[in-house]
Amino acid sequence: LDNGLAQRPPMGWMSWQRFRCLIDCNLYPDDCISDTLFRQMADRMSEDGYLEAGYEYLIIDDCWLAMERDEQGKLQPDPFRFPYGMKNLSDYVHSKGLKFGMYEDIGTRTCAGYPGIQGYLEIDANTFAEWDVDYIKIDGCNAEQSEYEQGYTDFGMFLNNTGRPIVYSCSWPAYLETGGTPANYPYLAKICNLWRNWADIQDSYNSMTTIADWFAKNQDRFITSAGPGNWNDPDMLLIGNFGLSTEQEKSQMALWAIMAAPLLMSVDFRTIDQQSKDILLNKDVIAINQDELGLQGRRFKRRDEDVDIWIREIAPIVNGEYSHAVAFQSRREDGAPRAMQIFLSEIGLNNPFGYFVTDLFEPTNFKRVVNRTEEVLVRVKPSGVVFLKLVPQAN
Ligand code: GLA
Repeated sequence: LDNGLAQRPPMGWMSWQRFRCLIDCNLYPDDCISDTLFRQMADRMSEDGYLEAGYEYLIIDDCWLAMERDEQGKLQPDPFRFPYGMKNLSDYVHSKGLKFGMYEDIGTRTCAGYPGIQGYLEIDANTFAEWDVDYIKIDGCNAEQSEYEQGYTDFGMFLNNTGRPIVYSCSWPAYLETGGTPANYPYLAKICNLWRNWADIQDSYNSMTTIADWFAKNQDRFITSAGPGNWNDPDMLLIGNFGLSTEQEKSQMALWAIMAAPLLMSVDFRTIDQQSKDILLNKDVIAINQDELGLQGRRFKRRDEDVDIWIREIAPIVNGEYSHAVAFQSRREDGAPRAMQIFLSEIGLNNPFGYFVTDLFEPTNFKRVVNRTEEVLVRVKPSGVVFLKLVPQAN
């Protein structure tokens, strides 16, 4: 969507994957979807290095609403969990230097059963603008397939009419693709800044790799629709939660960087451990994700050792040749790190002067020029990744 926003894949934090629809604040006072939770996350996000690393959007997912609209037909938050209203919370989030994101649904009800925006598109776009919302995720539950095109297009128009810059995230294609219908990505790129392509991520390595495999299998249909202002969204980062090992967390971070995916954390900043935090804050990997060219990468091939090779073209361009980010991601389960030898020509890199190669997670492994006749040796841990950046040498 050409609204000047999301020139790089959006970075932030979203409540859903980690906090879901916990609404019982008596039983779970620290974890329930509430004003208190979001203020605490805003504090941690701005003070613990996340904002500085580029994570700027704090996004409230489902379950913030009251069960009914107010007497004027306006959306209103749950009065007990959000006693000061959304504008007050939005002001607080902004006071921390962050941007404020929210969730709604194009249908009659959200996925968790709260009021949707169907029939109220203009009123609701104006309400979000009044609350100084900077990012809106519009889900696709409780709507007919035939209603999506008009609904998402019109809501985008009403958002635009408010005059407030609001990143527009559309879940529409996820509902088509999971139902077996291919989405129209060139059209989505015209009306949305990002869109969920496929099923929800869950807190497991199996879920993460199933999504990566779906993206790899279908990549030719949507990679070219990604670029500044429009992004494919394979869903939130699991990093720092319960389901992934440290190696698997590096795998997700690397694959999401290759895919030019939005980096939307969904973690409890109050309890995250240092290793996971370091992965989320790895500035070299973030730089690949946020690369200025905005070209989405792809799975290049699956080697017979069961190690996938993923490649993304990135800046700088040297003598007409792109630099590359290359991830070797292992699906193996046998314990010893798998040694792989590879000529750069095997992945299409033939520069006569070679490449300056950096290992982004283990800089001590690799930080030197490799020429095209040299075999590169990488050792990939089970379910882990070796993530390299290769810059062509000029002479
Ligand atoms: C759907 C979405 C999720 C989340 C939930 C909220 O499942 O895909 O990302 O927003 O709804 O109910």
